[in-house]
Amino acid sequence: MSGFPRKIIIDTDPGQDDAMAILLALGSPEEIDLLGITAVAGNVPIARTSENARKICEVAGRPDVKVFAGCDRPLAHTLVTAEHVHGKTGLDGIELPVPTMPLQAQHGVDFIIETLRSEPSGTVTLCPMGPLTNIATAFEKAPDIVARVQEVVLMGGAYFEVGNITPAAEFNIYVDPEAAEIVFKSGVKLTVMPLDVTHKVLVTAPRLQVFKDFGNHLGDVVAGWLDFFERFDIEKYGSEGGPLHDPTVIAWLIRPELFSGRLINVEIETKSDLTRGMTVADWWGVTDRPANAMFMNEADAEGFFALLTERVRRLA
Ligand code: RIB
Ligand code: CA
Repeated sequence: MSGFPRKIIIDTDPGQDDAMAILLALGSPEEIDLLGITAVAGNVPIARTSENARKICEVAGRPDVKVFAGCDRPLAHTLVTAEHVHGKTGLDGIELPVPTMPLQAQHGVDFIIETLRSEPSGTVTLCPMGPLTNIATAFEKAPDIVARVQEVVLMGGAYFEVGNITPAAEFNIYVDPEAAEIVFKSGVKLTVMPLDVTHKVLVTAPRLQVFKDFGNHLGDVVAGWLDFFERFDIEKYGSEGGPLHDPTVIAWLIRPELFSGRLINVEIETKSDLTRGMTVADWWGVTDRPANAMFMNEADAEGFFALLTERVRRLA
């Protein structure tokens, strides 16, 4: 397979859906070479996201993965968290032991910079699936790395499906809109998995049952996470399951044909309190603003879940 494995850094705020993205990556070594995981403050504070990332690696049987703690707060706002969705630990749904694998001493931002400078230019993809604080901080601290990034594939934003944290904004962008503005204006090749896609990949009861039927510890852990995680969206949207946001980033790298969208201009609202963090997506091309993002809006949900369950099962 040409272009595989893709060297990636996952930047994350686990988060049950982040956890599924990490499992999908670890279950796909032919396509994904995970260079490291950088945790960021988001769903829960950095102490928890950096611990949760290690819990997930240990559940996957991969205590060798390098996990780094990154930024503990957004660039310009106080941290907004999402315990109402993910629970107090950020990984509620099943009790997991305190991780024994180490947290790397290096700051996550410095790991991103060092990796991009040491790997051949254009060979490392950044996969943010939380607030974009680490990515933006790395770009600001080391502008030379922007041209060295193969591409950024992120989960965030919304167009038709606006607002899971405010009527105008999706959580990852809302928490740190200034960081998002830096990334979206950086000129880096950018693919965006917004709520328009993730609300089409719902953890329905039959899809959840597949994990329950694993009949082992990993299956029980995943089922516990997803059972807990979906409550919020089912209660809010009356949907038939929770949207599995973050694994769409990894699934796109492995099987891009599962998704489709448009190359459009996307700008970030940073000035208005009312619409802070809105991804102003020029879906219909009504401005002459240059296209800066491949903004996805369709997903093959059955194909996505078939890939996810097949790859996660490998780790059991
Ligand atoms: O809005 C959904 C996003 O916010 C997901 O990445 C979820 O994990 C939270 O970070
Ligand atoms: Ca996330």
